[in-house]
Amino acid sequence: MARDFTSVGVVGLGTMGAGIVEVFARNGVDVVAVEVSEGALERGRAILTGSTDRAVAKGKLAEADRDALLSRVRFAVGMDALHSVDLVIEAVPEHLDLKQRIFAELDRVCKPEAILATNTSSLSVTEISVATTRPNQVIGMHFFNPAPVMKLVEVVRTVVTSSDVVADVEALCKRLGKVDVTISDRAGFIANALLFGYLNHAVGMFEAHYATREDIDAAMKLGCGLPMGPLALMDLIGLDTAYEILDTMYRRGGRDRRHAPVPLIKQMVTAGLLGRKSGRGFYTYERPGSPVVVADEQTPVATEAALADGARGIAKVGIVGSGTMATGIIEVFAKAGYEVVSVTRGAEKSAKVFEAVRTSLNKGVVRGKLGEADRDAALGRINWSATLEHLADVDLVVEAVVEELSVKKALFASLDEICKPGVVLATTTSSLPVIDVAMATQRPADVVGLHFFNPAPLMPLVEVVETIRTSTETTATARAVCAALGKTGVVCGDRSGFIVNALLFPYLNDAVKMLEASYSTADDIDHAMKLGCGYPMGPFELLDVVGLDVSLAIQRELYLELREPGFAPAPLLEHLVTAGYLGRKSGRGFRDHTGR
Ligand SMILES: NC(=O)c1ccc[n+]([C@@H]2O[C@H](COP(=O)([O-])OP(=O)(O)OC[C@H]3O[C@@H](n4cnc5c(N)ncnc54)[C@H](O)[C@@H]3O)[C@@H](O)[C@H]2O)c1
Repeated sequence: MARDFTSVGVVGLGTMGAGIVEVFARNGVDVVAVEVSEGALERGRAILTGSTDRAVAKGKLAEADRDALLSRVRFAVGMDALHSVDLVIEAVPEHLDLKQRIFAELDRVCKPEAILATNTSSLSVTEISVATTRPNQVIGMHFFNPAPVMKLVEVVRTVVTSSDVVADVEALCKRLGKVDVTISDRAGFIANALLFGYLNHAVGMFEAHYATREDIDAAMKLGCGLPMGPLALMDLIGLDTAYEILDTMYRRGGRDRRHAPVPLIKQMVTAGLLGRKSGRGFYTYERPGSPVVVADEQTPVATEAALADGARGIAKVGIVGSGTMATGIIEVFAKAGYEVVSVTRGAEKSAKVFEAVRTSLNKGVVRGKLGEADRDAALGRINWSATLEHLADVDLVVEAVVEELSVKKALFASLDEICKPGVVLATTTSSLPVIDVAMATQRPADVVGLHFFNPAPLMPLVEVVETIRTSTETTATARAVCAALGKTGVVCGDRSGFIVNALLFPYLNDAVKMLEASYSTADDIDHAMKLGCGYPMGPFELLDVVGLDVSLAIQRELYLELREPGFAPAPLLEHLVTAGYLGRKSGRGFRDHTGR
């Protein structure tokens, strides 16, 4: 007969434990909440009441329900209080010896039929289980942060976990309104195995001054639609916990250098900068435990004046190219009030681009987002040309031609001859080194990358790519232009993948490797990232949208530039591309799209 969990115990009331207590108590389960000392117990109680009070303030929880919820929780110091519970979830710091000690103690205290679960993120559930005399009743229940909000629970079965224990815990997750994915005991399970390489890489970018914390976070939020940027997420997880998870994953997960914690993390932990819980991590918070970020010495001064400081005035913009990106960018500039000169390879191409821009603007009119007069004015601001000579008097050129270095270099050499001095020359390349393009001119200080995202009229992000020769004035101009377009410009160095692709594609590639290793299914991996981390799409959904060929090309570039063994493209990705399974555009990628 299936177990009926009427009372559970939670050990450790930190970031995760307090949230897990809330999840159970909200769902009518009695909870015994255990900590190591009175002080820690009070901190745990404060996290719980803070969270439930916020839910009441937001109208998400009635006051009476909050009171009922809190009345279901009994707080206690020491594990003796757990003698009669049906299930215990351990959420103490991520140290194997500590968890083993706790499990040995739980084994002694708890009734023989009780199930013992760990919320570990990266340690071996099997190793924890052998500290007890009932390893078949030990299981992983990996909740996500914040536990009351995130829908996912990874249920981790070891080789000795009884199948009835797995089934009962799965049923319990459903009762709690959670979605579970059941997997075997591997470092990082699904979500953290895919997440932590990315987080560590983002910290590495910050440590190397490749981009500011705000720009790294904005890039991933606006470029990928993530609920928060990687550094803000590190603060939410807690830097001490993140350090332990990375360290364990490095040691357990095949010594992948990408999991070797970036030195800055350890330094911050030593300095007590643990993230939200200590009031300061990558960002500074109103007070310990608060989610409210306050300004500190690293906060950029984002006034209009500061943005325009040192920027050159831009009124007339040349846009070269006639593809998807050029078309979108022409629309963006014309709509924002710039005079535009579009240069294509002929009248026919110009007519096509004109039609595409007009159709897109008309959609805005139909949706009520753009007046007819504004549409006509925008179209009227575009001059159509088939010769670069017409760029002689523009203030900025945005190049969006085919992604081939020789073509771009030849174009920049021509622009160098034609354009007046002081013009900013921008390339929209997404994978070529901007410096190569810059050095095709006699004025590399005026050359910058302006990496728009597709579709340009909708996507709010532009990566402003500085080479080692770009002048500060050119960067300031590029940033001011982004702001005038209503976009967020994030500044980064000239490395393969800039910020977004460099952080996104290795994660996608890792997901393919995980599938290839048969650790989980594409559906469960997609689920895990969406429900555990709040991603708008799972990795396989996204790969099918982006195109497997495009993804493979980007991943190859990253691998070739950084020679990071972990970046080597997944063989399965190569095979699918070879087989012509390119994603939605070819009707099949990781999934079959023909019938949809
Ligand atoms: N932080 C996250 O985002 C996250 C997400 C999922 C899982 N986890 C995992 O959850 C576990 C807890 O992580 P956290 O971030 O909540 O840590 P935390 O540091 O915020 O909290 C740990 C709590 O355990 C208590 N504790 C320590 N020793 C104890 C003992 N002997 N008995 C009772 N309580 C004790 C501490 O006082 C503290 O309150 C770790 O295994 C971690 O990997 C963390």
